[in-house]
Amino acid sequence: MHHFTYKNNVLHCESVPLPIIAEAVDTPFYLYSSATLSHHFETFDSSFAGLPHLTCFAVKACSNLAVLRLFARLGGGADIVSGGELFRCLKAGVDPRRIIYSGVGKTREELRYGLLSGILLFNVESVQELELLQEVAATLEVKAPVSLRVNPDVDPRTHAYISTGLAKNKFGVPISEAAAVYRQARTMPNLKIMGVSCHIGSQLTEVSPFLESLRKLKDFMKQLAKAGIAIRYLDLGGGLGVRYQDETPPHPREYAEALKQELAGLDCTLILEPGRVIVCNAAVLVSRVLYTKRGRSKNFVIVDAAMNDLARPSLYDAFHDILPVDQGAVAARGRETADVVGPICESGDFLAKGRDLPVFESGDMLAVMSSGAYGFSMSSNYNSRPRVAEVLVQGEEFFVIRDRETYDTLIQGENIPDFLR
Ligand code: LLP
Repeated sequence: MHHFTYKNNVLHCESVPLPIIAEAVDTPFYLYSSATLSHHFETFDSSFAGLPHLTCFAVKACSNLAVLRLFARLGGGADIVSGGELFRCLKAGVDPRRIIYSGVGKTREELRYGLLSGILLFNVESVQELELLQEVAATLEVKAPVSLRVNPDVDPRTHAYISTGLAKNKFGVPISEAAAVYRQARTMPNLKIMGVSCHIGSQLTEVSPFLESLRKLKDFMKQLAKAGIAIRYLDLGGGLGVRYQDETPPHPREYAEALKQELAGLDCTLILEPGRVIVCNAAVLVSRVLYTKRGRSKNFVIVDAAMNDLARPSLYDAFHDILPVDQGAVAARGRETADVVGPICESGDFLAKGRDLPVFESGDMLAVMSSGAYGFSMSSNYNSRPRVAEVLVQGEEFFVIRDRETYDTLIQGENIPDFLR
């Protein structure tokens, strides 16, 4: 469910017509609906009602301060993977006691920053990281709250690049070796063992891989209990998929019900790290057609957004629906098969390939749908393109939540050394 709908043939976000925003901020821009963001967060979080749980939004999916603040206001925590994400969360007002820190490569400085900020948990991914965390915590004379990220070797049946819970993936400690690591952690005086965590992948469209890994974790926790290691937090990661095209992922309620059944009798607080399912369909990327090229073998619609603004099609061959902003204007022109491409000098720069589309003409605007997750957060300055503006709608109003970058921002921090002067 989302709040991007046509009224009088013009695409609106909540009550605001997209052309009004384009006039004010120019194109391209990311456009978020606060009603959709809130609705998705609340639907997900309330699906786990009755179970002690904490919904920690995966910041990497969408890290704008305003979006983080919105979830913090709804009582959300955050799942972070870098010092930069921690900084953002603190600036946005996320309670550090609701922040968990995942990731395979946390630096000494980042561990220190997390400890000084008083975060809830470190999801540690290797013995070496555990040893470094012990060392940093000892220096600060504190006890670091620790979960071990366990790799359950479960196939999430998703794109290979976003599968994380298979033995061949770089993440976590193999489940067969994890008990020994917990025993080792127990001997480290500045660590406090709090939980077990796992995250098997992203854009999962079935419940079964989640259940398979949960069963493995439950067995594992029994093993820990026998060794006298008590677990207060069970973190099942994120990964619930969404519909981009014709996928039929479980509704968060179905997902939660399935997990709840399997969790019955378990005495710990559940942590969830949803990213995509909360933000994906809550934003679109709005772009304008610059030129069209109609050829014998192919038609191209050249737009002002590119792979640096939305990397997913180029990177994963991902499908994002493309809708005209003004349906009325294109209606009489019929349809054609075309590629929607950006201005970047690579053939891999496309937003859609071989797509059945309305016939777009120069000046038309289009919306690249379902762009809220891993959209702006994965954007770059490739080809020295300033990153686009981000806009948030609430009801009849809109707010620029990130200014469009300028040419000056592009070269900020760059220096020409003396010998070249
Ligand atoms: N927790 C951990 C430890 C993660 O690594 C991730 C995502 C999440 C939670 C959130 O997963 P989600 O609920 O969003 O599926 N750039 C890719 C997705 C990469 C996912 C990385 N990890 C894409 O655009 O599809």
